[in-house]
Amino acid sequence: MSLRISVIGTGYLGAVHAVCMAELGYTVVGIDVDEEKVAALSRGQAPFYEPGLDDLLAKHHDTGRLTFTTDFAAAKNADVHFVCVGTPQRRDGLAADMRYVEAAVDALAPHLDAECLVVGKSTVPVGTAAALAERLAKTAPVGAGAELAWNPEFLREGFAVQDTLRPDRLVFGVTSAEAEQKLREVYARTIADGTPVIVSDLATSELVKVSANAFLATKISFINAMAEIAEVAGADVTKLADAIGHDARIGRKFLNAGIGFGGGCLPKDIRAFMARAGELGASHSLAFLAEVDAINLRRRQYVVDLTRELVGGSVANKRVAVLGAAFKPQSDDVRDSPALNIAGQLHLQGARVSVYDPKATANARKIFPTLPYADSAVEACRDASIVLHLTEWQEFRDLDPAELAGIVETPIVVDGRNCLDADAWRAAGWTYRGLGRP
Ligand SMILES: NC(=O)c1ccc[n+]([C@@H]2O[C@H](COP(=O)([O-])OP(=O)(O)OC[C@H]3O[C@@H](n4cnc5c(N)ncnc54)[C@H](O)[C@@H]3O)[C@@H](O)[C@H]2O)c1
Repeated sequence: MSLRISVIGTGYLGAVHAVCMAELGYTVVGIDVDEEKVAALSRGQAPFYEPGLDDLLAKHHDTGRLTFTTDFAAAKNADVHFVCVGTPQRRDGLAADMRYVEAAVDALAPHLDAECLVVGKSTVPVGTAAALAERLAKTAPVGAGAELAWNPEFLREGFAVQDTLRPDRLVFGVTSAEAEQKLREVYARTIADGTPVIVSDLATSELVKVSANAFLATKISFINAMAEIAEVAGADVTKLADAIGHDARIGRKFLNAGIGFGGGCLPKDIRAFMARAGELGASHSLAFLAEVDAINLRRRQYVVDLTRELVGGSVANKRVAVLGAAFKPQSDDVRDSPALNIAGQLHLQGARVSVYDPKATANARKIFPTLPYADSAVEACRDASIVLHLTEWQEFRDLDPAELAGIVETPIVVDGRNCLDADAWRAAGWTYRGLGRP
Protein backbone atom coordinates (compact mmCIF):
# COMPACT_ATOMS: atom_id res chain seq x y z
CA MET A 1 0.00 0.00 0.00
CA SER A 2 1.18 3.51 -0.77
CA LEU A 3 2.59 5.50 2.16
CA ARG A 4 0.33 7.79 4.15
CA ILE A 5 1.98 11.05 5.08
CA SER A 6 1.07 13.89 7.40
CA VAL A 7 2.66 17.33 7.14
CA ILE A 8 2.38 19.51 10.24
CA GLY A 9 2.62 23.23 9.45
CA THR A 10 1.65 24.25 5.93
CA GLY A 11 3.56 27.51 5.41
CA TYR A 12 6.18 28.15 2.72
CA LEU A 13 7.94 24.90 3.53
CA GLY A 14 5.07 22.62 4.59
CA ALA A 15 2.54 23.47 1.87
CA VAL A 16 5.12 22.80 -0.83
CA HIS A 17 6.28 19.63 0.89
CA ALA A 18 2.71 18.34 1.22
CA VAL A 19 1.94 19.01 -2.42
CA CYS A 20 5.18 17.38 -3.58
CA MET A 21 4.54 14.30 -1.42
CA ALA A 22 1.16 13.97 -3.18
CA GLU A 23 2.97 14.40 -6.50
CA LEU A 24 5.21 11.47 -5.51
CA GLY A 25 2.05 9.40 -5.23
CA TYR A 26 1.37 9.37 -1.47
CA THR A 27 -1.82 10.09 0.41
CA VAL A 28 -1.15 13.29 2.29
CA VAL A 29 -2.86 15.30 4.99
CA GLY A 30 -1.57 18.79 5.75
CA ILE A 31 -2.32 20.09 9.25
CA ASP A 32 -2.02 23.69 10.41
CA VAL A 33 -3.41 25.80 13.24
CA ASP A 34 -4.14 28.67 10.84
CA GLU A 35 -7.77 28.20 9.78
CA GLU A 36 -7.58 30.66 6.90
CA LYS A 37 -4.55 28.95 5.42
CA VAL A 38 -6.18 25.54 5.72
CA ALA A 39 -9.39 26.84 4.11
CA ALA A 40 -7.46 28.28 1.14
CA LEU A 41 -5.40 25.11 0.68
CA SER A 42 -8.55 22.99 0.94
CA ARG A 43 -10.05 25.00 -1.93
CA GLY A 44 -6.92 24.23 -3.93
CA GLN A 45 -5.55 27.77 -3.59
CA ALA A 46 -1.99 28.54 -2.51
CA PRO A 47 -2.02 30.98 0.44
CA PHE A 48 1.20 32.56 -0.86
CA TYR A 49 2.96 33.06 -4.18
CA GLU A 50 5.27 30.26 -5.22
CA PRO A 51 5.73 29.40 -8.91
CA GLY A 52 4.19 26.03 -9.81
CA LEU A 53 2.45 25.52 -6.47
CA ASP A 54 -1.04 26.49 -7.66
CA ASP A 55 -0.96 23.98 -10.52
CA LEU A 56 0.09 21.06 -8.32
CA LEU A 57 -2.41 22.02 -5.62
CA ALA A 58 -5.22 22.05 -8.15
CA LYS A 59 -4.02 18.73 -9.60
CA HIS A 60 -4.03 16.95 -6.25
CA HIS A 61 -7.20 18.65 -5.13
CA ASP A 62 -8.68 16.67 -8.02
CA THR A 63 -6.80 13.39 -7.42
CA GLY A 64 -8.11 13.48 -3.83
CA ARG A 65 -4.69 12.40 -2.54
CA LEU A 66 -4.16 15.70 -0.72
CA THR A 67 -6.32 17.12 2.06
CA PHE A 68 -5.83 19.86 4.64
CA THR A 69 -7.28 20.24 8.13
CA THR A 70 -6.77 21.87 11.52
CA ASP A 71 -7.57 18.55 13.24
CA PHE A 72 -4.48 16.67 14.44
CA ALA A 73 -6.55 13.47 14.74
CA ALA A 74 -6.33 13.29 10.93
CA ALA A 75 -2.63 12.39 11.33
CA LYS A 76 -3.51 9.24 13.27
CA ASN A 77 -2.99 6.67 10.54
CA ALA A 78 -0.03 8.22 8.77
CA ASP A 79 3.18 6.20 8.46
CA VAL A 80 5.41 9.27 8.32
CA HIS A 81 4.79 12.70 9.88
CA PHE A 82 6.80 15.69 8.67
CA VAL A 83 7.11 18.59 11.12
CA CYS A 84 7.39 21.83 9.10
CA VAL A 85 6.31 24.56 11.54
CA GLY A 86 8.10 27.88 11.93
CA THR A 87 11.17 28.58 14.07
CA PRO A 88 11.32 32.40 14.04
CA GLN A 89 13.72 34.51 16.07
CA ARG A 90 12.63 34.94 19.70
CA ARG A 91 11.34 38.39 20.58
CA ASP A 92 13.70 38.63 23.55
CA GLY A 93 16.98 37.57 21.93
CA LEU A 94 18.84 35.95 19.07
CA ALA A 95 17.77 32.34 19.72
CA ALA A 96 15.11 30.47 17.78
CA ASP A 97 11.62 30.44 19.23
CA MET A 98 10.93 26.73 19.67
CA ARG A 99 7.35 27.08 20.95
CA TYR A 100 5.78 26.11 17.63
CA VAL A 101 7.84 22.96 17.16
CA GLU A 102 7.13 21.84 20.72
CA ALA A 103 3.42 22.63 20.40
CA ALA A 104 3.22 20.73 17.11
CA VAL A 105 4.89 17.62 18.56
CA ASP A 106 2.72 17.83 21.69
CA ALA A 107 -0.45 18.09 19.59
CA LEU A 108 0.59 15.21 17.34
CA ALA A 109 1.87 12.79 19.99
CA PRO A 110 -1.47 11.74 21.60
CA HIS A 111 -2.66 10.45 18.18
CA LEU A 112 0.33 8.17 17.64
CA ASP A 113 -0.84 4.74 18.74
CA ALA A 114 0.86 2.72 16.01
CA GLU A 115 4.50 2.58 14.93
CA CYS A 116 5.48 5.56 12.81
CA LEU A 117 8.29 7.93 11.95
CA VAL A 118 8.15 11.60 12.96
CA VAL A 119 10.51 13.59 10.75
CA GLY A 120 11.57 17.13 11.58
CA LYS A 121 12.15 19.43 8.60
CA SER A 122 12.13 22.79 10.39
CA THR A 123 15.48 24.51 10.93
CA VAL A 124 16.33 24.01 14.60
CA PRO A 125 19.17 24.50 17.08
CA VAL A 126 21.45 21.48 17.36
CA GLY A 127 20.21 19.21 20.15
CA THR A 128 16.52 19.83 19.46
CA ALA A 129 15.89 16.48 17.78
CA ALA A 130 17.35 14.41 20.63
CA ALA A 131 15.21 16.31 23.15
CA LEU A 132 12.09 15.92 20.99
CA ALA A 133 12.71 12.18 20.59
CA GLU A 134 12.51 11.79 24.38
CA ARG A 135 9.46 14.03 24.60
CA LEU A 136 7.72 12.02 21.90
CA ALA A 137 8.50 8.64 23.46
CA LYS A 138 7.02 9.88 26.76
CA THR A 139 3.82 11.36 25.33
CA ALA A 140 2.87 9.10 22.37
CA PRO A 141 0.65 6.11 23.30
CA VAL A 142 2.94 3.90 21.17
CA GLY A 143 5.95 5.13 23.20
CA ALA A 144 9.32 4.61 21.51
CA GLY A 145 7.38 3.14 18.55
CA ALA A 146 7.04 6.76 17.43
CA GLU A 147 10.60 7.26 16.25
CA LEU A 148 12.12 10.63 15.51
CA ALA A 149 14.37 11.54 12.57
CA TRP A 150 15.58 14.81 11.09
CA ASN A 151 15.51 15.66 7.39
CA PRO A 152 16.46 19.33 7.00
CA GLU A 153 15.08 21.26 4.06
CA PHE A 154 17.18 23.30 1.63
CA LEU A 155 14.51 24.60 -0.75
CA ARG A 156 14.80 28.12 -2.13
CA GLU A 157 11.63 30.20 -2.19
CA GLY A 158 10.83 30.96 -5.81
CA PHE A 159 12.12 27.49 -6.80
CA ALA A 160 10.52 25.57 -3.95
CA VAL A 161 8.58 23.03 -6.02
CA GLN A 162 11.50 22.03 -8.23
CA ASP A 163 13.88 22.03 -5.24
CA THR A 164 11.55 19.70 -3.34
CA LEU A 165 10.99 17.30 -6.23
CA ARG A 166 14.61 17.43 -7.41
CA PRO A 167 16.77 18.45 -4.42
CA ASP A 168 20.53 18.63 -4.82
CA ARG A 169 20.96 16.42 -1.78
CA LEU A 170 18.95 14.66 0.92
CA VAL A 171 20.15 14.56 4.52
CA PHE A 172 18.76 11.89 6.84
CA GLY A 173 19.51 12.32 10.54
CA VAL A 174 18.53 8.98 12.07
CA THR A 175 19.10 6.76 15.08
CA SER A 176 18.17 3.43 13.47
CA ALA A 177 18.49 1.53 10.20
CA GLU A 178 14.67 1.27 10.11
CA ALA A 179 14.30 5.06 10.12
CA GLU A 180 16.83 5.38 7.30
CA GLN A 181 14.98 2.70 5.34
CA LYS A 182 11.65 4.46 5.80
CA LEU A 183 13.11 7.77 4.55
CA ARG A 184 14.67 5.99 1.58
CA GLU A 185 11.20 4.60 0.82
CA VAL A 186 9.59 8.07 1.01
CA TYR A 187 12.20 9.55 -1.33
CA ALA A 188 12.64 6.44 -3.51
CA ARG A 189 11.83 8.27 -6.75
CA THR A 190 14.07 11.22 -5.92
CA ILE A 191 16.95 8.90 -5.03
CA ALA A 192 16.40 6.86 -8.20
CA ASP A 193 16.70 10.14 -10.14
CA GLY A 194 20.23 10.48 -8.78
CA THR A 195 19.88 12.73 -5.72
CA PRO A 196 22.73 11.95 -3.29
CA VAL A 197 21.82 10.93 0.26
CA ILE A 198 23.89 11.73 3.33
CA VAL A 199 22.97 9.67 6.39
CA SER A 200 24.08 11.01 9.75
CA ASP A 201 23.26 11.22 13.43
CA LEU A 202 20.59 13.69 14.55
CA ALA A 203 22.99 16.45 15.65
CA THR A 204 24.92 16.45 12.36
CA SER A 205 21.73 16.71 10.33
CA GLU A 206 20.62 19.74 12.36
CA LEU A 207 24.03 21.35 11.95
CA VAL A 208 24.16 20.74 8.18
CA LYS A 209 21.26 23.12 7.65
CA VAL A 210 22.44 25.98 9.85
CA SER A 211 26.03 25.70 8.66
CA ALA A 212 24.88 25.79 5.01
CA ASN A 213 22.96 28.98 5.75
CA ALA A 214 25.89 30.43 7.70
CA PHE A 215 28.14 29.78 4.70
CA LEU A 216 25.74 31.39 2.22
CA ALA A 217 25.25 34.42 4.47
CA THR A 218 29.02 34.74 4.84
CA LYS A 219 29.53 34.62 1.08
CA ILE A 220 26.99 37.41 0.55
CA SER A 221 28.47 39.54 3.32
CA PHE A 222 31.96 38.89 1.99
CA ILE A 223 31.11 40.42 -1.39
CA ASN A 224 29.22 43.24 0.32
CA ALA A 225 32.34 43.98 2.40
CA MET A 226 34.26 44.10 -0.89
CA ALA A 227 31.59 46.53 -2.15
CA GLU A 228 32.31 48.77 0.84
CA ILE A 229 36.01 48.72 -0.02
CA ALA A 230 35.27 49.28 -3.74
CA GLU A 231 33.18 52.32 -2.81
CA VAL A 232 36.05 54.00 -0.98
CA ALA A 233 38.71 52.84 -3.46
CA GLY A 234 36.79 53.76 -6.62
CA ALA A 235 36.68 50.14 -7.86
CA ASP A 236 33.88 48.01 -9.35
CA VAL A 237 32.71 45.10 -7.19
CA THR A 238 30.69 43.53 -10.02
CA LYS A 239 33.84 43.08 -12.14
CA LEU A 240 35.72 41.91 -9.05
CA ALA A 241 33.00 39.26 -8.45
CA ASP A 242 33.18 38.11 -12.07
CA ALA A 243 36.94 37.83 -11.84
CA ILE A 244 37.15 35.94 -8.55
CA GLY A 245 34.06 33.89 -9.44
CA HIS A 246 35.90 32.27 -12.34
CA ASP A 247 38.03 30.49 -9.76
CA ALA A 248 36.20 27.17 -9.36
CA ARG A 249 37.18 27.10 -5.69
CA ILE A 250 35.25 30.34 -5.17
CA GLY A 251 32.42 30.18 -7.75
CA ARG A 252 30.31 33.11 -9.01
CA LYS A 253 27.03 32.23 -7.26
CA PHE A 254 26.03 34.28 -4.20
CA LEU A 255 28.63 36.91 -5.08
CA ASN A 256 26.19 39.62 -6.12
CA ALA A 257 26.83 42.72 -4.07
CA GLY A 258 23.70 44.66 -3.18
CA ILE A 259 21.42 45.46 -0.27
CA GLY A 260 22.09 42.09 1.31
CA PHE A 261 20.15 39.07 2.43
CA GLY A 262 16.82 38.94 4.25
CA GLY A 263 13.81 36.66 4.40
CA GLY A 264 12.50 34.15 6.89
CA CYS A 265 15.70 32.06 6.98
CA LEU A 266 19.24 33.46 6.68
CA PRO A 267 19.05 36.34 9.20
CA LYS A 268 17.29 34.41 11.95
CA ASP A 269 19.24 31.22 11.26
CA ILE A 270 22.68 32.80 11.70
CA ARG A 271 21.49 34.52 14.88
CA ALA A 272 20.01 31.33 16.30
CA PHE A 273 23.23 29.49 15.39
CA MET A 274 25.29 32.06 17.34
CA ALA A 275 22.91 31.80 20.29
CA ARG A 276 23.15 28.01 20.32
CA ALA A 277 26.95 28.08 20.04
CA GLY A 278 26.95 30.35 23.10
CA GLU A 279 24.79 27.87 25.04
CA LEU A 280 27.27 25.15 24.10
CA GLY A 281 30.21 27.27 25.32
CA ALA A 282 31.56 27.78 21.79
CA SER A 283 30.56 31.36 20.99
CA HIS A 284 34.11 32.09 19.79
CA SER A 285 33.64 29.63 16.91
CA LEU A 286 30.82 31.69 15.42
CA ALA A 287 31.91 35.18 16.47
CA PHE A 288 32.47 35.98 12.77
CA LEU A 289 28.73 35.60 12.13
CA ALA A 290 28.07 38.75 14.18
CA GLU A 291 30.20 40.61 11.63
CA VAL A 292 28.38 38.87 8.75
CA ASP A 293 25.11 40.13 10.23
CA ALA A 294 26.52 43.64 10.79
CA ILE A 295 27.87 43.96 7.22
CA ASN A 296 24.49 42.85 5.94
CA LEU A 297 22.55 45.42 7.95
CA ARG A 298 25.04 48.20 7.05
CA ARG A 299 24.10 47.85 3.37
CA ARG A 300 20.52 48.84 4.15
CA GLN A 301 21.76 51.88 6.04
CA TYR A 302 24.12 52.72 3.16
CA VAL A 303 21.21 52.92 0.70
CA VAL A 304 19.25 55.15 3.05
CA ASP A 305 22.26 57.47 3.43
CA LEU A 306 22.99 57.41 -0.32
CA THR A 307 19.37 58.28 -1.09
CA ARG A 308 19.51 61.23 1.29
CA GLU A 309 22.74 62.45 -0.29
CA LEU A 310 21.44 62.06 -3.87
CA VAL A 311 18.30 64.11 -3.21
CA GLY A 312 20.24 66.96 -1.64
CA GLY A 313 20.77 66.17 2.03
CA SER A 314 17.25 65.49 3.31
CA VAL A 315 14.52 63.13 2.13
CA ALA A 316 11.79 65.08 3.95
CA ASN A 317 8.87 65.57 1.60
CA LYS A 318 10.81 64.02 -1.31
CA ARG A 319 9.02 61.46 -3.45
CA VAL A 320 10.91 58.17 -3.31
CA ALA A 321 9.84 55.33 -5.60
CA VAL A 322 10.66 51.91 -4.15
CA LEU A 323 10.62 49.09 -6.69
CA GLY A 324 10.30 45.86 -4.74
CA ALA A 325 9.02 44.77 -1.33
CA ALA A 326 9.68 41.00 -1.32
CA PHE A 327 13.01 39.87 0.11
CA LYS A 328 13.76 38.25 -3.24
CA PRO A 329 12.09 37.93 -6.65
CA GLN A 330 9.64 35.12 -7.46
CA SER A 331 8.32 35.30 -3.91
CA ASP A 332 5.76 37.30 -1.94
CA ASP A 333 7.69 36.75 1.30
CA VAL A 334 8.44 40.04 3.06
CA ARG A 335 9.89 38.65 6.29
CA ASP A 336 12.95 40.75 7.18
CA SER A 337 12.94 42.18 3.67
CA PRO A 338 15.82 44.62 3.05
CA ALA A 339 13.63 46.49 0.52
CA LEU A 340 10.85 47.12 3.03
CA ASN A 341 13.35 47.98 5.74
CA ILE A 342 14.85 50.70 3.52
CA ALA A 343 11.39 51.94 2.48
CA GLY A 344 10.36 52.07 6.15
CA GLN A 345 13.45 54.00 7.23
CA LEU A 346 12.97 56.60 4.49
CA HIS A 347 9.28 56.90 5.32
CA LEU A 348 10.17 57.56 8.96
CA GLN A 349 12.58 60.28 7.82
CA GLY A 350 9.70 62.10 6.15
CA ALA A 351 10.04 60.86 2.57
CA ARG A 352 6.88 60.41 0.51
CA VAL A 353 7.60 56.79 -0.32
CA SER A 354 5.65 54.82 -2.92
CA VAL A 355 6.27 51.07 -2.92
CA TYR A 356 5.46 48.69 -5.75
CA ASP A 357 6.00 44.94 -5.88
CA PRO A 358 4.52 42.56 -8.47
CA LYS A 359 3.46 39.96 -5.85
CA ALA A 360 4.27 41.06 -2.31
CA THR A 361 2.14 44.18 -1.81
CA ALA A 362 -0.58 42.42 0.21
CA ASN A 363 1.97 40.93 2.62
CA ALA A 364 3.89 44.19 2.81
CA ARG A 365 0.71 46.06 3.71
CA LYS A 366 0.15 43.66 6.61
CA ILE A 367 3.52 44.32 8.28
CA PHE A 368 3.96 47.95 7.11
CA PRO A 369 0.42 49.33 6.84
CA THR A 370 1.61 52.95 7.10
CA LEU A 371 3.63 52.83 3.85
CA PRO A 372 1.93 54.04 0.67
CA TYR A 373 1.70 51.35 -2.06
CA ALA A 374 1.33 51.76 -5.81
CA ASP A 375 -0.37 49.43 -8.30
CA SER A 376 2.41 49.56 -10.88
CA ALA A 377 6.06 50.50 -11.26
CA VAL A 378 5.08 53.50 -13.40
CA GLU A 379 2.61 54.71 -10.77
CA ALA A 380 5.25 54.36 -8.04
CA CYS A 381 7.73 56.36 -10.13
CA ARG A 382 5.40 59.19 -11.11
CA ASP A 383 6.98 62.54 -10.13
CA ALA A 384 9.63 60.74 -8.05
CA SER A 385 12.77 62.59 -6.96
CA ILE A 386 14.60 59.27 -6.90
CA VAL A 387 13.92 55.63 -7.83
CA LEU A 388 15.26 52.77 -5.69
CA HIS A 389 15.50 49.35 -7.32
CA LEU A 390 15.48 46.97 -4.34
CA THR A 391 14.09 43.56 -5.42
CA GLU A 392 15.37 42.14 -8.71
CA TRP A 393 12.10 41.19 -10.41
CA GLN A 394 12.41 40.71 -14.18
CA GLU A 395 9.60 43.25 -14.56
CA PHE A 396 11.96 45.97 -13.27
CA ARG A 397 14.78 44.90 -15.56
CA ASP A 398 12.32 45.17 -18.45
CA LEU A 399 11.38 48.78 -17.64
CA ASP A 400 12.19 51.24 -20.42
CA PRO A 401 14.48 53.85 -18.82
CA ALA A 402 13.70 56.38 -21.55
CA GLU A 403 9.95 56.11 -20.95
CA LEU A 404 10.41 56.24 -17.17
CA ALA A 405 12.62 59.33 -17.44
CA GLY A 406 9.55 61.19 -18.74
CA ILE A 407 7.49 60.16 -15.73
CA VAL A 408 9.79 60.98 -12.81
CA GLU A 409 10.59 64.46 -11.56
CA THR A 410 14.36 63.78 -11.40
CA PRO A 411 15.97 60.83 -13.21
CA ILE A 412 18.11 59.38 -10.42
CA VAL A 413 18.14 55.62 -9.83
CA VAL A 414 19.84 53.60 -7.10
CA ASP A 415 20.25 50.01 -8.24
CA GLY A 416 20.32 48.14 -4.93
CA ARG A 417 20.73 44.83 -6.76
CA ASN A 418 23.31 45.87 -9.36
CA CYS A 419 21.32 44.22 -12.12
CA LEU A 420 19.85 47.03 -14.22
CA ASP A 421 21.66 47.85 -17.45
CA ALA A 422 23.70 50.83 -16.19
CA ASP A 423 24.72 51.96 -19.69
CA ALA A 424 21.13 51.93 -20.95
CA TRP A 425 19.88 53.95 -17.96
CA ARG A 426 22.71 56.47 -18.27
CA ALA A 427 22.11 56.77 -22.03
CA ALA A 428 18.47 57.60 -21.25
CA GLY A 429 19.58 60.52 -19.10
CA TRP A 430 19.57 58.91 -15.68
CA THR A 431 22.06 59.39 -12.87
CA TYR A 432 22.70 55.69 -12.18
CA ARG A 433 24.23 54.55 -8.88
CA GLY A 434 24.92 50.89 -8.19
CA LEU A 435 26.41 49.50 -4.99
CA GLY A 436 30.17 49.06 -4.84
CA ARG A 437 30.67 50.37 -8.36
CA PRO A 438 31.30 53.75 -9.93
N1 LIG B 1 10.72 29.14 3.77
C1 LIG B 1 11.84 28.56 3.36
O1 LIG B 1 12.39 28.87 2.29
C2 LIG B 1 12.49 27.51 4.20
C3 LIG B 1 13.50 26.70 3.64
C4 LIG B 1 14.12 25.73 4.44
C5 LIG B 1 13.75 25.61 5.77
N2 LIG B 1 12.78 26.41 6.29
C6 LIG B 1 12.43 26.24 7.69
O2 LIG B 1 11.14 25.65 7.72
C7 LIG B 1 10.42 26.06 8.87
C8 LIG B 1 9.10 26.66 8.43
O3 LIG B 1 9.37 27.83 7.67
P1 LIG B 1 8.27 28.51 6.75
O4 LIG B 1 8.98 29.51 5.94
O5 LIG B 1 7.44 27.48 6.09
O6 LIG B 1 7.39 29.26 7.88
P2 LIG B 1 5.86 29.72 7.76
O7 LIG B 1 5.69 30.73 8.83
O8 LIG B 1 5.54 30.07 6.36
O9 LIG B 1 5.04 28.41 8.11
C9 LIG B 1 4.93 27.86 9.38
C10 LIG B 1 3.54 27.29 9.52
O10 LIG B 1 3.44 26.56 10.74
C11 LIG B 1 2.15 26.76 11.26
N3 LIG B 1 2.14 26.41 12.68
C12 LIG B 1 2.62 27.13 13.74
N4 LIG B 1 2.40 26.45 14.89
C13 LIG B 1 1.81 25.30 14.55
C14 LIG B 1 1.36 24.17 15.30
N5 LIG B 1 1.51 24.11 16.61
N6 LIG B 1 0.77 23.16 14.63
C15 LIG B 1 0.62 23.21 13.28
N7 LIG B 1 1.03 24.24 12.53
C16 LIG B 1 1.61 25.27 13.16
C17 LIG B 1 1.87 28.23 10.98
O11 LIG B 1 0.49 28.53 11.06
C18 LIG B 1 2.46 28.35 9.57
O12 LIG B 1 1.48 28.09 8.58
C19 LIG B 1 11.35 27.03 9.59
O13 LIG B 1 12.06 26.33 10.56
C20 LIG B 1 12.27 27.51 8.49
O14 LIG B 1 13.50 27.97 9.00
C21 LIG B 1 12.13 27.33 5.54
